[in-house]
Amino acid sequence: MTKDHIGEILIPEKIILQRVLELGQQISNDYRDREVIIVCVLKGAVVFLADLLRCLEISASLDFVQISSYGDSTKSSGKLDFIQNLTVDIFDREVLVVDDILDSGLTLYYLIDILKAKRPVSIRLCVLLSKVKNRDIDINADYVGFWIPDKFVIGYGLDYAGKYRGLRYIATLEIS
Ligand code: IMP
Ligand code: MG
Repeated sequence: MTKDHIGEILIPEKIILQRVLELGQQISNDYRDREVIIVCVLKGAVVFLADLLRCLEISASLDFVQISSYGDSTKSSGKLDFIQNLTVDIFDREVLVVDDILDSGLTLYYLIDILKAKRPVSIRLCVLLSKVKNRDIDINADYVGFWIPDKFVIGYGLDYAGKYRGLRYIATLEIS
């Protein structure tokens, strides 16, 4: 039987919090005097969101979506299943999508496509992590906390089989 455990620490707590503060300042500058709706993608982004929100100096309201995508990372049907959908109307509003990680990018690509159809004034994407890899889908985040190698990571909201979200740092996952 295999057993999973915490591997190497990739990003320590202090570095994460420093970078989240910088992102908060950058976002606050970019949205100065504008009202933004933050759409947080459950569940992985909640820890990041909680810290980021407290670093913002702008008026921001919150909404949440939880989605699961069909297909695997090499082939997607483009269909998203909304486990939790928006509860506010984003028409004519400024939207900032906050998620934990850009991996293949497929989930966020299709989510943003669906959100765009509701005709917000603007839509931007903020992710804590982005994997350095060749994506076959054209998606770029407007705000990226850290670029990381193409490894499976856990902690600070990110899970493996529902575990490890509460770690204060980001680490690799080891399976032995
Ligand atoms: P996508 O491949 O970019 O569509 O990623 C979809 C989702 O998979 C992300 O929002 C994460 O929730 C999850 N995911 C991708 N890579 C990792 C990882 O390294 N650790 C934990 N979750 C991940
Ligand atoms: Mg996610």
